[in-house]
Amino acid sequence: MAEPNLDQFITALEEGIAGGRFVKLTLAKPRGKDADLKNLYVRPVALKKGARLSFLYRHKTRDVVKNHTVEEGVRLIRELLGAEFLSGHLFMTVQDLRLEFKRRGESHLVKRAPTFTEPQPAEHDRRKRRSIQTAGNVYLQALGVTDERGEVRPAMGDKLRQINRFVETVGGLFAASPLAGREEISVVDMGSGKGYLTFAVYDYFNNALGVRATVEGVEARPELVELCNETARRAGFDRLSFQTGYIEDFGLSATDILIALHACDTATDDALFKGVSAGASIIITAPCCHKELRPQMRPPEPLRGVLRHGILLEREAESVTDSLRALLLEQAGYKVKVFEFVSTEHTRKNTLIAAVRLEGTSDREEALGEYRALKEFYGIREQRLEKLLCPF
Ligand SMILES: C[S@@+](CC[C@H](N)C(=O)[O-])C[C@H]1O[C@@H](n2cnc3c(N)ncnc32)[C@H](O)[C@@H]1O
Repeated sequence: MAEPNLDQFITALEEGIAGGRFVKLTLAKPRGKDADLKNLYVRPVALKKGARLSFLYRHKTRDVVKNHTVEEGVRLIRELLGAEFLSGHLFMTVQDLRLEFKRRGESHLVKRAPTFTEPQPAEHDRRKRRSIQTAGNVYLQALGVTDERGEVRPAMGDKLRQINRFVETVGGLFAASPLAGREEISVVDMGSGKGYLTFAVYDYFNNALGVRATVEGVEARPELVELCNETARRAGFDRLSFQTGYIEDFGLSATDILIALHACDTATDDALFKGVSAGASIIITAPCCHKELRPQMRPPEPLRGVLRHGILLEREAESVTDSLRALLLEQAGYKVKVFEFVSTEHTRKNTLIAAVRLEGTSDREEALGEYRALKEFYGIREQRLEKLLCPF
């Protein structure tokens, strides 16, 4: 039977590969015999033997990779589309094509502006490119990290290291989360400030990982929002925008990733609550200025000798605050890690609370029990995130 849409799709693929315009192809909506198979991702790779198409078969619990010659690969794709998978999404630097089948023979082909206007780096380059590129980087220059020649300003080396470490951390969490393999995601950054990390996250997902990310920054100071929106426009980051507003008032119905770095005191709790309520798969916060618990702390007898020193009480209050937050996130169904994301010589505000939503069940009762015990031990009466989540 003639299948003009499929023919057109395959021709575009062949021409895209031959002309170096092919970025990647995703086959979705499986309907074949293998009930475990979810997607097939195809991308070009340069091997010693020559150009190949790498096929990544994503199953529920495992990935299988096979490399094919271009001819073999294209033949396979033609066989699979409409038979094993009902949807094909072809990304090229000139345009995107989406082919949807109702059943074999009945299809719908849509052409769209390209998601990626540059070829994605080959795998070995991609592994190397774990950092933000500085050459020709509009936002790093606008934010004063690099100079007019694209060179890192001497005083901004630490900032750049922090930015790179942060995006690597986000990338690692993404790969280990239920979002892994997703081609489109949404990210909200609360208390985005001058936007260093917001821009970097956008850049990293879209340009280093090849994931189409829409990113929104929320910031109380309108002058920073204006500056960031202008910079996003100049950088050509058309899915990055900033809004003036307060974290606690921001209406957020859904997001895949929520970030809040160095939002003051209980603004971190407000952001964590927004993330949990919006069903975020990943929540990353770097708390700062922990003021809420310190005046409430009643040092338990064995710790009196330690906590009578103001600085030690302050540090203890910080640890207890973040431990309570971590336990509340665990009871909300997240796996939580607390760690330093950049060495203390670069900044003291470097503790990350990273939470990844668990797909199965978790032991929420145990976390809640530990939470109660910790609060009681230190004589804490109230904690903002607890008040918002109402876990009891
Ligand atoms: C220390 S800066 C951090 C900026 C950025 N997240 C970073 O880590 O580079 C904190 C920012 O959060 C903003 N902020 C603090 N409380 C906020 C709130 N409740 N709602 C919105 N923005 C807030 C401040 O205006 C400031 O720009």
